[in-house]
This record gives sequence, structure tokens and C-alpha cells, in this order.
Amino acid sequence: MCGIVGYIGKREAYPIILEGLKRLEYRGYDSAGIALYDGENLKLSKTKGKVADLENKITKEISLNGSVGIGHTRWATHGVPNDVNSHPHYSNSGDLVIIHNGIIENYASIKEELIKRGYSFSSDTDTEVLINLIEDVKKNEKVKLGKAVQIALNQVVGAYAIAVFDKNKPDEIVVAKLGSPLAIGVGDNEFFIASDATPFLEYTKKAIYLEDEEMAIVRLKKGIKIRKIKDDSLVAPYIQELQLNLEQIVKGGYDHFMLKEIHEQPEAIKDTYRGRLNVKEGLIRMAGIDDNLEHILNANRIIVIACGTSWHAGLVAEYIFEDLARIPVEVEYASEFRYRNPIITEKDVVIAISQSGETADTLAAIKLAKSKGAFVFGVCNVVGSSIARETHAGAYTHAGPEIGVASTKAFTTQITVLTLIALKLAKEKGTISKSDFQLHLQELQLIPDKVKKALLQDEHIKTVAKIYKDAKNCLYLGRGFNFPVALEGALKLKEISYIHAEGYPAAEMKHGPIALIDEQMPVFVIATKRGHYEKVVSNVQEIKSRKGKIIGIVTEGDKDVKNLADHVIEVPETLESLTPLLTTIPLQLLSYHIAVMLEKNVDQPRNLAKSVTVE
Ligand code: F6R
Repeated sequence: MCGIVGYIGKREAYPIILEGLKRLEYRGYDSAGIALYDGENLKLSKTKGKVADLENKITKEISLNGSVGIGHTRWATHGVPNDVNSHPHYSNSGDLVIIHNGIIENYASIKEELIKRGYSFSSDTDTEVLINLIEDVKKNEKVKLGKAVQIALNQVVGAYAIAVFDKNKPDEIVVAKLGSPLAIGVGDNEFFIASDATPFLEYTKKAIYLEDEEMAIVRLKKGIKIRKIKDDSLVAPYIQELQLNLEQIVKGGYDHFMLKEIHEQPEAIKDTYRGRLNVKEGLIRMAGIDDNLEHILNANRIIVIACGTSWHAGLVAEYIFEDLARIPVEVEYASEFRYRNPIITEKDVVIAISQSGETADTLAAIKLAKSKGAFVFGVCNVVGSSIARETHAGAYTHAGPEIGVASTKAFTTQITVLTLIALKLAKEKGTISKSDFQLHLQELQLIPDKVKKALLQDEHIKTVAKIYKDAKNCLYLGRGFNFPVALEGALKLKEISYIHAEGYPAAEMKHGPIALIDEQMPVFVIATKRGHYEKVVSNVQEIKSRKGKIIGIVTEGDKDVKNLADHVIEVPETLESLTPLLTTIPLQLLSYHIAVMLEKNVDQPRNLAKSVTVE
């Protein structure tokens, strides 16, 4: 979490850094700050709150000129979100300034030692400790900034993406990375530093992504020198050509990124299967699977590791893989998996799912699985992300940038990729008939149009949202393939509207949650045709007899649930295994509208951040 931006070159740094921080605000929005160097003075302004608050404050505090600068938008780890704990942080001399994304775990002992040597600290942050450690090394060892950063980093335990500036060496910025992402945009004798490439898209399409345990000295006229932090060896810079466009990261007429991203799903799903799904020839081509087919087909089991919404996509995959490909699947929270001494062998295939490709727990779980000899396959959205690089092979979701903190199109595109993999394996294993395989391909190709149709229910969903927006608790029920959708629906409501919501397998209701049901309790029931429809209808009856309010997500033309429910929202009919791609849509819209009606910050819900790079 936290977003970092830096610039060194010939332009005014302030507008580049400010706009960059706005684009990275999805990574954290507890506080923001910018430091600028104008050739003489190092100036700094920071504040609790959002980048917009900084924008209002900064003009009253400092002059905005200068062609070198660094900026930060924070998701608080150490110390409450206040002005003092905001980044950038000065060193005691005021010569050095730093921005940091990550956590320095051993900061307390280093701080103690520095205090003994006469250093003082104004904030509660680990970052202020790091910049003073760098200063201490620089002074005592009489080394240049780059060397001091390297020596200091070899003493710290934790995770970081940092940018450090020394006003006595104003032609360079020193950056380093371990565990948190860091990209360098390479222009014509100008350089951009950022947590992802979005802050510099309009200036350059050339980017270097630092690897873990690498640092770089970014210097005017001399360019970029990358070294390994541990052994000082030089690394040849690998410059990538970015495929991202500016249009992909603006709201494009929508009120919120989340709404834009919900509406992008038909195209996003199409982009996910484009070039992979060939209905005419009855084929699925996926390089990451094709190149490792034997390995995957011979697996004893598949272990899915993920967090949050991606974990829900993993649960859907469990149903799909077991049903179609008859491969045993276990779905694990990455945070639990990594700490519970799991039994993993070389015969296991691990599928790691992550939108950002940066989630710390998922990354650590991948490393653990690899160390035990498992083959690890990544399903990521962000190209070139840490997880994409750490896995043996993988498939991108191609959903395009997801900026709203609540995950929407990432979920449906993850399910699309996982469905393609399951179908491909099923075909290879012979666990699906030719005609059934072909039917699945045809239906999958129709999904984008069906999602479009589901989106047409928006006005009706708004009406339903208005009725239930003041609920204090909500239940979400689903069975089979749609049980994970119930979990996802509840998560979406919780995270953006702050209404307490629980997802349950519909039949579990009578083992406890049914006690909660009264006339105040809205129950959202996914009750599409096929699968266990009659059983769900019985569950709906049980809710009705306890006077719960029933909102059914049903197949077009449904009669039984319609007769019992207070409201129904229809989705087009499809194969049972593909229904999650449709039933998810109304639940996303419902959460969105409720949050808007409650005047919540939809794109940046409190306490959350898009990319969870801390454990
Ligand atoms: C929920 C949400 C989170 C993420 C989770 C994993 O809307 O966005 O629950 O799904 O933090 O993130 P990734 O997929 O980036 O690993």
C-alpha cells in the first residue's frame, strides 16, 4: 500500500507529482505530501487526508517551482494518520528526504540506537527511522548517498519501495525495492519514479520495473545504474514498452471508477478470452497451460491461494475444476496457508490469483509453495507485477486497470480465465464430452452480451437499493457455483457501504443464521434456474415464513421465486457453471448504489487500499 511518485528532469515537477499521486491514490489515502527542490531550497508540504487536501494546503505553504521532487500518498501502518506521520520525511539535518511504501520491521531497535547517538524523531513512523539511519551511515562511513542507502538497507528487515533525495546531490534520486513495487519511467534525460506506471504514461512508454533487492541511482545526464543491494553487483536495465493507455485510467464520464469498471465487464471478459477461445475450431489456447500441460495434468491436486475477492474467484474455480475436470481442488486464504505449515509436494499445482499481483500474503504463499517443489501458476491482472514474475507460468486476465478499491471486473475476468483452464484440462483428461465442451465454449462466448443485458437492470436495481439502503445487516445466500457469489456480494456491500453483511451457503442458514431473520433483515438469494433451484426455493420459503425481506437474483422468466420474493432481479439464462459471471453483476450494482445513496466514498472506502503489500 501507499503510492510513491518522483520526478527529475527539465519540467516542473509539481504538476507531474500531484497528478501522479491522484492516480495512485487507490493505494492509500490517509495522508499525502510532496517535497520539491528548486535549485536552492528543499521544500516540503504534507497533510493528513487526501491528495485534494494537500492541493488546497500546499500553495499556502511552499512555492511550487522546481524540477526535482518526490510525493507520497499513504496507507497508515506505523502511527496514526496525521500531518506529522505523513511522508515525505526529512532526516535530522534536513538534507535528506524520503518517501516509503512498506514496513521496516526492526525499526524500533534501530530507532533506539539512533536516539543514543543523538538523533531525535518527530513522527511515529518507521520511515523517519530509515532516513536517519541513511544519514547516520552517510556521515559515519563518509560515503555518497547511494552507498549509504545500500548499507542502511542491508541492516533493515521488512519491505520497501523508497525514493531518497539529498539536497547536496540534486542531480540524482536513489530508489530501492524489496516487496513493494517500483517502476522507473525513462524519458529524454528525465526520469519518473512511481509505484506503477500510471503517473508517467503521458510522458514516456518506456519503463523499468525494479526487482526485489535492487536499487537504482537515477541521475541526470548519466542515466540509471542498477545494483543488487546485497552484493553490489551491477544489473543491466531491462526497459519495457508499456501497453497501457491514458484513456484506460480516467473515469470516462462515469461518476466513479467502480461504476465504470462494472460497466466495462462485457469488454473485459471478451478481452480475457480473446485469442484463447476458438469456438469454430473447438479449441482453447493458453500458452501458460499448453507449455506445462503434462505437469498440470499429472497433478495430484490443485491448491488455490488468494485473498479477498480473488479468493472468492478461487472458490468458484473449485466448483468448476472439480465439476468439469475432476481434479481435486483446495482453496486457501494465502495468509493462513503461509503460516500453517501446509503439506505441499512436487505433485501439487498451486494457482495463485491476484488482481494487483502485489498482495504480500499471496506472494509469500507462492514462495513457500515453490520452496516445497510445487509448480505455481499465476492468474494476475497487472502485467509485470511481482506475482506474475514470481510464478512459474501464468495467464493474465487482461481486464485493464482496476482503480476502484472494490474489485469488480477483476473478479469476473479471473473466473473467465479459470473457466478456460478448467475446460482445457477437462478436454485433455476426457472428463467432458465433445458436445458439452463445445456447448461451454459457445456459451462462454455469449457471456459478454449477457452481462450487457444484466447491466440493463441498473434502474430497477437502484429502486431496490433505495428500499434497503438503511438496513443494518444483510444476508446473502447461494448454493453450489453461486455460494462464492453470495460471499462476494456480501463483501462488496460491507466494504463500500459499511453495512454488515454475511454470505452463506443457502442450506447452512438453518444451522444458525436463520435466527437472525426477522422483518428487518434483507436476504439476497441467488436462485437461478438449473443446479439446485428447487432446494433454493425451499430456502426462500423458510425465509418468508420468518418474515425476512427477500430479494431474489433469478433467471429471466422465473415464476416460483418471483411469487415468494419481495423483489426479483433477473439475469439471462446460461450454463450453471457460468452463472457466477452473471449473478455477480446485480450484486455489484446494488452495493454501488447503496454506497452512493449513503454518500460513502465508493472508490476509496475507509481503511482500505487497493494493493495490500503489507501482511
Ligand atoms: C475486495 C478487494 C480485496 C482484494 C484482495 C486481494 O473488493 O478488492 O478483497 O480482492 O485484497 O487483492 P489482489 O487480488 O490484488 O491480490
